[in-house]
Amino acid sequence: MSNSGNADVPSFENRDPNSPGFWDERFDRRFMPWDQAGVPDAFRTFVSALAAPEATRVLIPGCGNAYEAAYLAERGMSVRAIDFSPSAVAAARAQLAAHGGVVEEADFFTYQPPFAPDWIYERAFLCALPKDRWTDYAERMAALARPGALLSGFFFIGATPKGPPFGIERNELDALLAPHFELVDDHEVSGSIPVFAGRERWLTWRRA
Ligand SMILES: C[S@@+](CC[C@H](N)C(=O)[O-])C[C@H]1O[C@@H](n2cnc3c(N)ncnc32)[C@H](O)[C@@H]1O
Repeated sequence: MSNSGNADVPSFENRDPNSPGFWDERFDRRFMPWDQAGVPDAFRTFVSALAAPEATRVLIPGCGNAYEAAYLAERGMSVRAIDFSPSAVAAARAQLAAHGGVVEEADFFTYQPPFAPDWIYERAFLCALPKDRWTDYAERMAALARPGALLSGFFFIGATPKGPPFGIERNELDALLAPHFELVDDHEVSGSIPVFAGRERWLTWRRA
């Protein structure tokens, strides 16, 4: 994701990850080192363990190509996948084909979902946000999640000097979310793509 002098990294005009244009440029030029190009195994495992998948309403903020939204929609689950980058939304809709209606162009910080989510799925979204937005992230997640709802997915652990991805120290993440959520699961994952390898964990936080 970073643009820091690597010869393999194209040069981009927009350097502000808070702006949709930053992400548009990268999607348009197909520079997406964060992209799993499929549904991660830990995500499939989590879905298969849901007690009532048909009754689980899922929000995917910063969805990018939204492979996971397709996976859920194909199983008849209620899902909304949002992204503020028009190019990401176009890519997600193409990916979802017949289920493209679950994708909305929206800013996470102002979006009002059509349902109260039971699960908000995190992957490569917190680490797409500069550090000065992390408190806003936690507060918005807390506002979107009803008591008992889950914030669950992949978290990129360990500070990075330059981002995105903006990794977060584990104690900093705990301090960020603990005022609103209780940590109920924490485990290693396998099959990470290179940019996240060895540094992402699957965490499940329950809204207090
Ligand atoms: C690193 S990409 C990850 C995409 C996807 N979650 C994945 O795992 O492939 C981060 C995404 O978050 C989106 N994004 C960043 N800030 C956002 C915001 N405030 N509201 C909605 N989407 C946002 C970007 O447009 C981009 O598509």
